[in-house]
Amino acid sequence: MLQDVERVLISEAEMQKRIREMGAQISQDYEGKDLVVVGILKGAALFCSDLFRSITIPVELDFMRISSYGASTKSTGVHRVLLDLDYSLEDKHVLIVEDIVDTGLTIKFLLGYLGQRHPASLRTATLLDKPSRRKPEAAVPIDYRGFEVPDEFVCGNGLDYAEKYRNLRDIVILKPSVYSK
Ligand code: IMP
Repeated sequence: MLQDVERVLISEAEMQKRIREMGAQISQDYEGKDLVVVGILKGAALFCSDLFRSITIPVELDFMRISSYGASTKSTGVHRVLLDLDYSLEDKHVLIVEDIVDTGLTIKFLLGYLGQRHPASLRTATLLDKPSRRKPEAAVPIDYRGFEVPDEFVCGNGLDYAEKYRNLRDIVILKPSVYSK
């Protein structure tokens, strides 16, 4: 697996430091509020578990899984909910946790979908943000951002290529030869 890595973009240590900062900020912002963290499977599972443990106030955890139709490295804007939340969001402060915001279409869909459930507030956190790829119609606010990344396909810490490489500890760029296999 490591032989497929071209270069490390963000190291595990850098990432863990930033995630602790994000957790501290979230803990401060939601002090005294009924907070629910909603992790988006599968990509955000690893980031979400680290972020969740960095939050020092009472908080609930739930997960959703969304499918996006289209080629494996592209988002189409057509989404289907494969796993929904267990509990009501009524009057709760909801924080959606994503691995990466690319075109923005997935987070836009989630804001619309969860917004219908009358949460007290609805915000977004993402480990990675690729603003250069954002579609104008999906210029949604990102409230907590780990790192901005260039317009390159990245893997590791939960992010996959064809379901592989999620277990890499760093955020990496793969060798071009991987995609022509
Ligand atoms: P969006 O709807 O285009 O913002 O894309 C969101 C989803 O596409 C993410 O949750 C990822 O699953 C996937 N994705 C986008 N860019 C990358 C990447 O560089 N590496 C791995 N997955 C990505």
